[in-house]
Amino acid sequence: MDYNLEIVVQDAKDALSTIDDLEELSRLRNNLLSKKSQLGTARSSLATLPLDQRREIGAKIELARKEIESALAERRQLIEVRTRKEKLAADEIDITEWLESSTPARGHQHIVQRTRDELEDVFVGMGFSVNEGPEVETDWYNFEALNIPPAHPARGMWDTFYLDLGEPETVLLRTHTSPTQIRVMESGELPIYAVMPGRCYRRDTPDSRHLPIFHQIEGLVVDIGISFANLAGTIEDFTTAYFGAGIHSRLRPSYFPFTEPSAEFEITCTICAGSGCRTCSHTGWIELGGCGMVHPAVFEAVGIDSKRWTGFAFGFGIDRCAQMRYQIPDMRVLMENDYRFMKQL
Ligand code: DAH
Repeated sequence: MDYNLEIVVQDAKDALSTIDDLEELSRLRNNLLSKKSQLGTARSSLATLPLDQRREIGAKIELARKEIESALAERRQLIEVRTRKEKLAADEIDITEWLESSTPARGHQHIVQRTRDELEDVFVGMGFSVNEGPEVETDWYNFEALNIPPAHPARGMWDTFYLDLGEPETVLLRTHTSPTQIRVMESGELPIYAVMPGRCYRRDTPDSRHLPIFHQIEGLVVDIGISFANLAGTIEDFTTAYFGAGIHSRLRPSYFPFTEPSAEFEITCTICAGSGCRTCSHTGWIELGGCGMVHPAVFEAVGIDSKRWTGFAFGFGIDRCAQMRYQIPDMRVLMENDYRFMKQL
């Protein structure tokens, strides 16, 4: 019988050197030391040997076992130290805040939340109420009731995250705050003067002007005798109230399925105050959002008589507003939670 115990020990050490976690280690320990292992079979075949050989080989097997045991213990210690270091690194808390000053810094709102609150304040001051809708919506609220039937080409304007709930593509993360218009109109009280802020989702790759998770504020007015002039006036009042007296708005023809006519609204570029710069492509204007007169098909979807009532709606990005107001070159900082950025604002 040939027990090449040196090779057994060497193989064991080789195998150990590739192991990086404790579970694998205990599995390997079993393989190396169990009755079925090479060492185990060697030990059980001792019984068949004459007494003198049995003693000699038995001692060698015991030596090999001890060597493997100590290699196992060594590896265990190494893994434990490494795991502990990794855990400590992962648990590390950024205490820069505390190092910078002996008095604890006071927390404050995130810039997006603050912008949202300020926008709400402006509209509340103009007589609007604030309503919220769910972030998980159905296709009906997000698209159909807004006059965007399935397969309508305009769906391409919103790259949608669908949820694996119910029939395929019936439940989704809202791509804009416009579905909340439908919910507010459905609630049945007229007239309506409401703004609806909230988080939205689109399958967009983040870049300096887009985030896949972002915030919008929607506006909706439904009353008797509401005209396009009321829309333009409301947008202008809001623009000067929020951005300051030197910043104005203008409307340009556009298309949205839920408004007719539709427009996009632009404000004076806040970077160059309208004289033209790279940010505004030398036009002096920056696009902020969309707007228009509520489409009769939308009124029909919620049972409002469009012969009697007219209305306007608008929607724009809260993050974009913060970007323009605070001249933030890259929007991604809004998501990164870097303390050095957040503490400035
Ligand atoms: N929901 C549109 C979007 O996210 C923006 C918008 C356009 C909202 C026109 C409106 C509107 O209320 O009337 O692209």
